[in-house]
Amino acid sequence: MARREQLSGKIAIVTGASSGVGWQSAVRLAEQGVRLCVTARRREALELLRKQVEASGGECLVVPGDVTVAEDVERVVRECLARYGRIDILVNDAGVQTYGYFDQLPWEHIQRTVDVTCLGFLRFAHAVLPHFRQQGSGHVLNVQSMLSKGAAPLLSVYSASKHATLGWAKALALELHGTGIHVSNVLVPSVSTPMFDHAPTQLDKKPVPVPPTYDVDVVARAVVRCALKPGRTVVPVFLQGKLPLWMNKLAPFVGDFILGRYGVRMQTEDQPLHRPDGNLFQPVPQGVGPYGSVPPTPKWKRLTAVVGLAALAGGMLGGAALGVRGLVGDVSHR
Ligand SMILES: NC(=O)c1ccc[n+]([C@@H]2O[C@H](COP(=O)([O-])OP(=O)(O)OC[C@H]3O[C@@H](n4cnc5c(N)ncnc54)[C@H](OP(=O)(O)O)[C@@H]3O)[C@@H](O)[C@H]2O)c1
Repeated sequence: MARREQLSGKIAIVTGASSGVGWQSAVRLAEQGVRLCVTARRREALELLRKQVEASGGECLVVPGDVTVAEDVERVVRECLARYGRIDILVNDAGVQTYGYFDQLPWEHIQRTVDVTCLGFLRFAHAVLPHFRQQGSGHVLNVQSMLSKGAAPLLSVYSASKHATLGWAKALALELHGTGIHVSNVLVPSVSTPMFDHAPTQLDKKPVPVPPTYDVDVVARAVVRCALKPGRTVVPVFLQGKLPLWMNKLAPFVGDFILGRYGVRMQTEDQPLHRPDGNLFQPVPQGVGPYGSVPPTPKWKRLTAVVGLAALAGGMLGGAALGVRGLVGDVSHR
């Protein structure tokens, strides 16, 4: 069956659709004939998305809401059901990256980041699952992060939230085994979204993604692939995806060394900025649409980085092997 036919007519709720991954995923799903219910706090941004989708022949219901407010979440689900009669896919995407050294983050920022980025996913799934169970089918598709498995300095609470959502998603998939309801995850690398243009930061410097940065469309296309073939955890890229996952198993000290030594510098630009709250508690006008101010890293630079990393890992592994041989030699001479 053609891809478009498989998804055509399905109904999806997409959270965090006013910018970045959520926006672009909504556009790509609509291209496959998926009928949308999009949500986030910024109504005007969602209306722009609706116009774009409808101009291409798609269907798009706008229901603004805050993922930390249970009544908002229930209203989104209710209005989606009232318009379309069913829900097939929940794309859990809304999230906030909160930058700062852990001990310098105000406690209310810590709680709010977990509430949006972790509990927001759980709240939406909790609201749609009764309908999925009634239908005997459904798909909870979670936009995760490479930080659902790894870690980065300045993003401790965000990492904690993403680790928690991945753990929850895995357990949920086990609970739903055999029910016809699927759970998928897309492990997202750094992508060129507006997140870095409105994220809260305690550092008084502009936050930037850990390089390399990918085009947001790479993730949106992975979301569509998951929608077509549910029940998987997808890692859409190599350099900041499959490679670090392998390296963390084979030689975890390489990633720890790079991020421990350079992680803070990699994630801040010398541009002064005072944005302690960003879009954490209230939405902000900056950063509407799929793309942000940080462009994707050119392909040639990504290839150069692969070669450099391979050389570094080889050197460190070689050094470690020589060290072990030296130690064995020492012991055998005693
Ligand atoms: N960009 C990256 O490099 C990257 C890397 C790994 C993972 N991800 C993941 O990708 C997902 C989307 O991020 P993005 O990069 O697309 O960032 P983004 O452009 O900032 O999008 C975040 C979305 O979440 C919404 N949102 C934030 N707080 C909300 C709240 N309290 N209630 C409802 N909606 C809320 C925002 O809209 P409103 O402000 O209008 O509410 C926005 O639509 C997140 O789960 C993030 O963790 C991103």
